[in-house]
Amino acid sequence: MITGASSGIGRICASSFARMGAELWLLCRNREKGEHTVENIIQQSGNDNIHLLHGDLSSLNQVRNVAHTFLEHDRPLHLLLNNAGVFNIKQKLTVDNNEEMFAVNHLAHFLLTNLLLDRIKASAPARIVNIASDAHWFCNSINFNDLKFEKKFKTFKTYGHSKLANILFNQELAKRLRGTGVTANALHPGGFGIKTGLGMQNGWVTNLFAMFMNPFLQTAEQGAETSIYVCTSDELGGVTGSYFKNCRKVAAKPWATDDKASLQLWQISEKLTSLAWYL
Ligand SMILES: NC(=O)c1ccc[n+]([C@@H]2O[C@H](COP(=O)([O-])OP(=O)(O)OC[C@H]3O[C@@H](n4cnc5c(N)ncnc54)[C@H](OP(=O)(O)O)[C@@H]3O)[C@@H](O)[C@H]2O)c1
Repeated sequence: MITGASSGIGRICASSFARMGAELWLLCRNREKGEHTVENIIQQSGNDNIHLLHGDLSSLNQVRNVAHTFLEHDRPLHLLLNNAGVFNIKQKLTVDNNEEMFAVNHLAHFLLTNLLLDRIKASAPARIVNIASDAHWFCNSINFNDLKFEKKFKTFKTYGHSKLANILFNQELAKRLRGTGVTANALHPGGFGIKTGLGMQNGWVTNLFAMFMNPFLQTAEQGAETSIYVCTSDELGGVTGSYFKNCRKVAAKPWATDDKASLQLWQISEKLTSLAWYL
């Protein structure tokens, strides 16, 4: 299963896994775009075992519905690629009243993963791969006192905060999964930056910025290389709780490997997603 498979890195990963012959479940928020993606991938790969899961990760209710729909199909799940992401230049709240980057990039994937966890464990050996970013460098702690960034919203800091959450979540998840045959790894895709749809909904400011940066950015194909490697490489079979960049294991910043913060984030995410109620 790949979240955010209708564009950028997720789309390239989906095509690549389809060519490898995998049965795929693609989570997309825009039904039309999702259907188009599925059709295209089937045509290009000749693999017709590709399915659309329609849902918007900015709504916790829709995350629950998507998980429920998948579980009802009674299929194994050997790989969950938590890839979908959003970058906003202004503070935006979701229907659940959470800051959108924290909600989509972290909370939705926290909930989705936990709702699918029994199925993933039953499918072991299995992998969970969380797309984080070196943007976690922009924010050196989780803003536990103001998770909505109501006091001070700063674009890069708030995006970096959501990506820091991805790495802390990955660390705690890997710890909880030890001995189950399921690994959890996080990664930074690409090098400096990748030409994708990320942030393009913000209008002319990000479009202009992207135009200026374009010559320095990698293609989505190059950007997807580390994701494909961490998802499929045989040599990573038993590797868990790690952070990758350029297809190599690297160290995340020390604040992204803080045990206390990762546990605290897990506990607050449980509350914000009402997880116990749904398990
Ligand atoms: N691009 C970079 O330079 C870069 C660098 C570091 C990390 N990353 C990370 O890489 C991941 C993939 O991003 P990308 O660069 O490939 O950007 P992208 O082309 O914008 O792809 C993001 C995907 O997430 C989906 N998505 C966004 N909000 C969603 C929501 N509420 N519900 C469901 N799906 C949603 C998008 O759907 P639509 O197709 O409908 O828009 C799209 O398919 C993200 O986690 C991002 O943070 C990117």
